[in-house]
Amino acid sequence: MGKGVIIALDGPVASGKGTLAPLLAKKLDGFYLQTGAMYRALALYSLRNDLDTPEQVKNSLSDINIDLKGESTFLNNEDITTQLHNNDVSSRVPMVAAIPEVRNVLIREQKRIGYDLREKGISVIAEGRDTGTVVFPDADIKFFLDASVEIRAKRRHAQLQARGEVLSFDKVLDDTIKRDKSDMHQSGALVSRPDQYGYVLIESTDLTQETTLEKILDCMRQRGII
Ligand code: DC
Repeated sequence: MGKGVIIALDGPVASGKGTLAPLLAKKLDGFYLQTGAMYRALALYSLRNDLDTPEQVKNSLSDINIDLKGESTFLNNEDITTQLHNNDVSSRVPMVAAIPEVRNVLIREQKRIGYDLREKGISVIAEGRDTGTVVFPDADIKFFLDASVEIRAKRRHAQLQARGEVLSFDKVLDDTIKRDKSDMHQSGALVSRPDQYGYVLIESTDLTQETTLEKILDCMRQRGII
């Protein structure tokens, strides 16, 4: 049995963590714990069932089962992966993610998954906002992936265009700045001083995806984690 480790990978919107985390999971033959997908799955459930208030969402928690398999997400055994980035889900998710009971339940589940797998010798790549602070404060290693707001908006603009959504770059830049502000202030917030929480800061503005991945792997090798 290999040594399982928990790797926390956090960072702001469009920092590239959502692309890097599954690549890292493949490389290490580990499990990709995509925490944002769990909040999105619950947002989709609330839309489908007209659960429009925090109280209604809270009361539905026991009816919901969310499974993560590779890059796919299942809600009560239905593959909902392709629906998770629809605009209506993205608009609904902040309300859902701000409910303390929702955070408690999802964080408990994330901890259960992570610690069980590590115990079994399987590495876990936990990706989100608070995986290195709240979910796994004792992660074996924590990375904070960052890039300038302009480059993140550029990446997001390209992603949206690839999905057929036509928005001006200025609008995407404006949205990214707003998302940064709300991500810093909501419950389970992204930290503004990652160094204080033991994160290794990876600044990827001028790096390609491959170089960023290599940098992360190098850092883990240097620390004897892999
Ligand atoms: O990473 P993402 O964009 O898929 O996240 C979706 C939403 O869930 C986003 O509004 C932030 C929230 N979220 C959170 O509150 N805590 C996490 N650990 C991950 C995501």
